[in-house]
Amino acid sequence: MASTAPTVVELTFLPGLADVLRDEVAEVLHPKRPATLVPGRSDALVLTLPGALSEVRRLTTAVAAFVVLHFDVPRPKSLTSGDHLRRIVDAVYASLRVAGSSTFRFEAAGSDSTVFARLASELNAATGLKHDEKDGELVVRVRRGVVRGSDARTSEADPGWDVLVRVGNRPLSARPWRVADYPGAVNATIAAAMVRLAGVDADDRVANLMCGSGTLLIERLLAGPAAVATGIDLATDAVEASRANLEAAALQRKATLQTADIAAADGAYDLLLADPPWGTIHGSHATNADLHATLLREAHRLAAPGARLVVLTHEIKVMERCLRETDLWAVRSETRVFAKGHHPRIYLLDRT
Ligand SMILES: C[S@@+](CC[C@H](N)C(=O)[O-])C[C@H]1O[C@@H](n2cnc3c(N)ncnc32)[C@H](O)[C@@H]1O
Repeated sequence: MASTAPTVVELTFLPGLADVLRDEVAEVLHPKRPATLVPGRSDALVLTLPGALSEVRRLTTAVAAFVVLHFDVPRPKSLTSGDHLRRIVDAVYASLRVAGSSTFRFEAAGSDSTVFARLASELNAATGLKHDEKDGELVVRVRRGVVRGSDARTSEADPGWDVLVRVGNRPLSARPWRVADYPGAVNATIAAAMVRLAGVDADDRVANLMCGSGTLLIERLLAGPAAVATGIDLATDAVEASRANLEAAALQRKATLQTADIAAADGAYDLLLADPPWGTIHGSHATNADLHATLLREAHRLAAPGARLVVLTHEIKVMERCLRETDLWAVRSETRVFAKGHHPRIYLLDRT
């Protein structure tokens, strides 16, 4: 951006994954000060970026990244004035440099008002981007500012307005490798969080049990090399979807796929990743009780001494009961995630 002011970035994420994302930010972006939660929010971290904006694309557990601009103005109408507009246009160009877009849209209360129509036409004139309120690629959020620090104690303090320009034409969570959709595929940021929670070791022999379209396998291989990587699913269409996604990620040579019931699979693995069927997709509540018990038993059979098993499940009660009834696995951690009205949990288990 033309301005020399440090770039403030807001990272959105699925609630429950704040600590995982904060760790990833520290490791990947090296901010001078740790990322902090945006006041009043459980799904956004804010930080001052020490390096290039494009670095945010390396984050795997964030849903999206936005450049944050704060304006001490009483109404959005003032945003179209010279200096303010220039800052917004600079941020739009910074986003375009990371990944091009040809259209933009607003996410704001009152985005259909004449004030936003004027802002849209000014942005169009300055950048050439077309305003497409429904399908615009580049997202511009406009919202009331957040009163920070000592101002927060003064109830009369005017919070002003924030303009957030999303980095890139798609959210970070939309993975370019996902060319084959699969019903019940796990959100890629959750998969990446599971991988981070388990730890990445190049000597690990990795198995993605019940791999579906291969999200966990791919996120694991993108996080670092593995001694062995295999995906196992009994459904042919799942294995085909995994194959297509692995190819799109240029990882087809790094992994093998097996069409098999996990009970018929063999091998010895140091890291096992799984998200068993839930609800009515690929299963039912009745069979899922058996399936979770089977998963814990078969994963143990396939686990080398010292192995970790990471399971994402929506069937919390079923999983808790299965864990109580077995001494094959010890719970190291449980992470609750909130995703589109669902509250699955990530269990990190150690082979006993
Ligand atoms: C929730 S989906 C996995 C989704 C996957 N993580 C993805 O991102 O696409 C669960 C998968 O478990 C598979 N499955 C169910 N029972 C199985 C078993 N006994 N052995 C192997 N795969 C099984 C289903 O075919 C289905 O693809």
